[in-house]
Amino acid sequence: MTMGPAVTAPTAAAEPDELRTLPAMEGLTFRRATEDDVEALRDLYVQLIPDARPTPEAMRATLRDINASPRSGMVVVGELNGRVVATCQLVIYCNLVRSPRVKAQVDSVVVDSALRGRGIGKRMMNWCLAKLRERNCARIIVATAYTREVAHKLYSRLGFVQSGYSFVLDGPPIEDGVDPGQVFTEAVIEEAAP
Ligand SMILES: CC(C)(COP(=O)(O)OP(=O)(O)OC[C@H]1O[C@@H](n2cnc3c(N)ncnc32)[C@H](O)[C@@H]1OP(=O)(O)O)[C@@H](O)C(=O)NCCC(=O)NCCS
Repeated sequence: MTMGPAVTAPTAAAEPDELRTLPAMEGLTFRRATEDDVEALRDLYVQLIPDARPTPEAMRATLRDINASPRSGMVVVGELNGRVVATCQLVIYCNLVRSPRVKAQVDSVVVDSALRGRGIGKRMMNWCLAKLRERNCARIIVATAYTREVAHKLYSRLGFVQSGYSFVLDGPPIEDGVDPGQVFTEAVIEEAAP
């Protein structure tokens, strides 16, 4: 990719078409998120789901859990000249049906609204795909709403194809004090009555 000079955030008056002609950005790097990124991640998540406002404490605890199992994925942050401007989450899991087979889901993809349309989303996804290839992922899944047309274009450009239907079942929110990282207890096998 051709690299142009580093650019700073555009002014509020800039039109989307003008933004799209700006040069690609130097100084854009990607890495695993740490607890220090929580405030920046909150700002990005509000742009993704406005009514999702997790507390910084809950986010830190969740990130600690995620980072304690690095083989299971990571929250990715994209930094432009030291400022967090993009994120997504990789969830990696082993699939038994065709074992050995590793699958992954890319979740919560968002680029700062002031910097969209300049290739950051594409570069972040390419970075993630390279990481997932290193992990030998046989299938990578990304789900998004019908209305997110830019996301559809981004994923299609990267080679993703539309496949099947998604069905979603929402559960109740986790109550205060309940450990979200709780592990399954062993299944209890009930003996048949004699
Ligand atoms: C979807 C999103 C992550 C894309 O990030 P981005 O940095 O704006 O995207 P890019 O600049 O890398 O562009 C990716 C592709 O989309 C196209 N695109 C970008 N902005 C566009 C726009 N406003 N209209 C039409 N196409 C657009 C580009 O043409 C590009 O493809 P191409 O360069 O191969 O032609 C970003 O728009 C975003 O955060 N949206 C809100 C949150 C969201 O919808 N997330 C996805 C939920 S899973």
